Amino acid sequence: AKANIGVVGLAVMGSNLARNLASREGNKVAVYNRTWSRTEEVVEAHPEAGFIAAKTIEEFAQSLSTPRTAIIMVKAGKATDAVIDQLVEVFEPGDIIVDGGNALFTDTIRREKAVRETGINFVGAGISGGEEGALNGPSIMPGGSEEAWHTLGPILKSIAAVAEGEPCVTHVGTDGAGHFVKMIHNGIEYADMQLIAEAYDLLRKAAGMTPAEIAGVFEEWNKGELESYLIEITAEVLRQVDAATGKPFIDIVLDQAGSKGTGVWTVQTSLDLGVPVSGIAEAVFARSLSAHPRQRAAASDLPGPSAPPAVSSSDRDAFIEDVRQALYASKIIAYSQGFDAIIAGAEEYGWDIKKGDIAKIWRAGCIIRAQFLNRIAESYAEHPDLEVLVAAPYFAEAVSRTQEAWRRVVIHAVAAGVPTPAFSSSLAYYDGLRAERLPAALVQGQRDFFGAHTYKRVDRDGTFHTLWSGDRSEVEETGSH
Ligand code: 6PG
Repeated sequence: AKANIGVVGLAVMGSNLARNLASREGNKVAVYNRTWSRTEEVVEAHPEAGFIAAKTIEEFAQSLSTPRTAIIMVKAGKATDAVIDQLVEVFEPGDIIVDGGNALFTDTIRREKAVRETGINFVGAGISGGEEGALNGPSIMPGGSEEAWHTLGPILKSIAAVAEGEPCVTHVGTDGAGHFVKMIHNGIEYADMQLIAEAYDLLRKAAGMTPAEIAGVFEEWNKGELESYLIEITAEVLRQVDAATGKPFIDIVLDQAGSKGTGVWTVQTSLDLGVPVSGIAEAVFARSLSAHPRQRAAASDLPGPSAPPAVSSSDRDAFIEDVRQALYASKIIAYSQGFDAIIAGAEEYGWDIKKGDIAKIWRAGCIIRAQFLNRIAESYAEHPDLEVLVAAPYFAEAVSRTQEAWRRVVIHAVAAGVPTPAFSSSLAYYDGLRAERLPAALVQGQRDFFGAHTYKRVDRDGTFHTLWSGDRSEVEETGSH
């Protein structure tokens, strides 16, 4: 019998995804890897999967029933292009090539266009959930054509995570839409992780708590409105004790955060789209700052506050609750900004992205999975044309309830000299968004002064310029500037 689906690239994510596919009723899975020894290893380790192992790409194509469907799970970038080229040689019109890696969405747009010219379908699919998700059920964000989704949809639904009875996969939109949404997912992941890290840092440095005590706090928080995978694993990381030294694991890890690029892409793309994803940007910058050890060493003697506020033991519970509320409020901003980027991207690239469906497929399987996503899905279901997520009734109520605590935490952090860039910038964004008047009017005045960049008036249509170096009278512009 031939296979109905194939996987190319058998590193951990690829082999786990292949095993997941093989474990579902009705699937027969062909596998191919650049080095045959790895294929043999995976096939021998998992006899239950009944893989059809292909030695060459030709053999791989022959082992698939038509329309052939193959998921590529290789490193994003050149390796992906190389595999696509190979598959295009041996596949036929109507077949489907899926890229399941973390590709940059503009690469996916380019690849989809090129592959489509051969009559073969190309689908860029974001897959979230790490190794565990790939094996037991990830959240999947496919782009590509309707035609490809018709064949691919049932297969992806069979392996996706399930949230409240619904598979965590939806046809996000055409060409690069899936990888775009996966990129934003990762941007939100960065912000969420940084916010959690700031909460930890405050409890540690401002409230003087131990990692084990803080683990207990996160365990508690995971029972309430913050319930999420990232909060859950944070408690586990903080509980961990290093076997070699007996110290908390967190204290033996070098404090320099790495990254593979998706957070940076989210910010770069959002800058181009004009979307202020400030919380995500601060998360990316916080990782960059951490990764400059020589600069940090050079600055390590610079002074902090001379009289940092102390959190007394009687104030501790109130402080912990304030930090919880600040975390929740900032998290709402991170998601609100992420959905803004999705809306702007959909507009720019012509994708019909259903925001509520995205929130739904993020409820399980992916790294940012959380209770909270249900509230986002409901908000978009009730108000499909919501201007900004934070203004949805549910979130507006949540922010009104938490904003005083949020302010207290940022004030405390600043006074104590504990850096909370994501907490602080989220609050600044919130205050900017709700402000009746912004000092942008002054910026416009400055721009008009030095560059005759013109301004609009609050009381009249038209475009105006003041003759700053002349008699300072106002002229109405007729031409375009
Ligand atoms: C996921 C993750 C995953 C990503 C890691 C690493 O959704 O499963 O987002 O795709 O590769 O989170 O990202 P960084 O190395 O950039 O932190």
